[in-house]
Amino acid sequence: MLLKKHLFINGIWKETSQYTVLKSPYSGQAIAEIAVATDEDVNKAIEAASIASKIIAKLPAHKRSAILYKVAALLQERLDEAARIIAMEAGKPISTAKTEVLRTIQTYKFAAEEANRITGETLPLDAAPGGEGKIAYTVREPIGVIGAITPFNFPMNLVAHKVGPAIAAGNAVVLKPASQTPLSALFIADLFEIAGLPAGALNVITGSGKMVGDLIVADDRINMITFTGSPAVGISIKNKAGLKRVTLELGSNSALIVDEGVQIENIIPRCVNGAFSFQGQVCISLQRIYVHETIYDEFVSKFVAETKKLKHGDPLDPETDISALISTNDVSRVMDWIEEAEQGGADIVSGGQVEGNILLPTVITNVSASLKVSCEEVFGPIVLINKIGSVEQGIELVNDSRFGLQAGIYTNNIHTAMMAAEKLHVGGVMINDIPTFRVDHMPYGGVKESGTGKEGIKYAVQEMTELKLVVINRN
Ligand code: SIN
Repeated sequence: MLLKKHLFINGIWKETSQYTVLKSPYSGQAIAEIAVATDEDVNKAIEAASIASKIIAKLPAHKRSAILYKVAALLQERLDEAARIIAMEAGKPISTAKTEVLRTIQTYKFAAEEANRITGETLPLDAAPGGEGKIAYTVREPIGVIGAITPFNFPMNLVAHKVGPAIAAGNAVVLKPASQTPLSALFIADLFEIAGLPAGALNVITGSGKMVGDLIVADDRINMITFTGSPAVGISIKNKAGLKRVTLELGSNSALIVDEGVQIENIIPRCVNGAFSFQGQVCISLQRIYVHETIYDEFVSKFVAETKKLKHGDPLDPETDISALISTNDVSRVMDWIEEAEQGGADIVSGGQVEGNILLPTVITNVSASLKVSCEEVFGPIVLINKIGSVEQGIELVNDSRFGLQAGIYTNNIHTAMMAAEKLHVGGVMINDIPTFRVDHMPYGGVKESGTGKEGIKYAVQEMTELKLVVINRN
């Protein structure tokens, strides 16, 4: 019989009236039955969070920290089980899924540490006339109830990036995981229950993404929305959120510049990994590479040779590098974009074919900037490699985008590197690395249509707290 997964509301696994079958994106086989929350379920979850927010706000920092450490420890014990869940529901190759679980453990540990160091500052009020004899200090208070809406691509670690700092800061959470990957979030809810989180401080609502999302965004009892997903949905959330605080981690068409003189063989495996890890379904996936004309031909041929070594197949096979895209719709969409590129004069030098739901890693050259594979976020295993005459030209091409999450540059010249760091209009510049770099305590977030606000535990805690000023009048 199929595993039946209920809603997690107010510390209780709650049955509901309707369930939907979750299927493997790779094999199409049924994995579990997932609860489809009703309006009333969502209302109950928000009510529970609203009541629990008063309780968790009063829980001492060391207790919040201990709960988060305990979740990290429980996850470490169940690492293999957690990785299998991700691999099955997301189609993420098991070795990559394991890396995600290890990162999730780190993320909860960072959150546990951060819970104990949420600080304010003292201010010299006498710097302004009228401020004499007054002492001021700031404190950070929890914001209240956080609505967290998470994507399918890192179903455990991006939940951790929202739930971890929220709990560290003393907030309650209503979590809506991606409908394609609910099991990872429900697994984590179980760990929080075992770790002793007060009932209602974390509620997990599965079902129709749009219905639940709309209810969360519209509800006055929710004080903040934290969302990772597509720019279209993110922008619509921001437009509907009124005075709620909103952080948005949206998409990108991340780019890399490779300057003349760079030792190509040293960087090829890393570039191939950045382009094709989890089938390119990563917000900072390497989608555009601009290579100096002096090393362009060598770069392309070595890149293609390395790409051909990737093994595709079952996500549960430890040898697999590339597996299925999250849906058949995505396979068709990306194939249409490849066709558009071909008709637009680009050359498909590797891949461009489909096996089952697996799109083979695809390398495209001579791509004009207006083609979708260049100017849209592909979220698939596609990379373009174009020739540039100078780093300055590369910077212009990187910046000619609606997005700006992270960018990378490989160069042997420190002045060129510093010039690029200054001129690239993105949230993070990686010097001598690909844009597909993230560790979980660094600030992470984009400019332009890549979003607003920062994640990375310390930065997320700032977003999830209110800064309160206290002034003491000694006059
Ligand atoms: C993302 O795809 O938004 C997150 C990437 C990462 O955490 O590595």
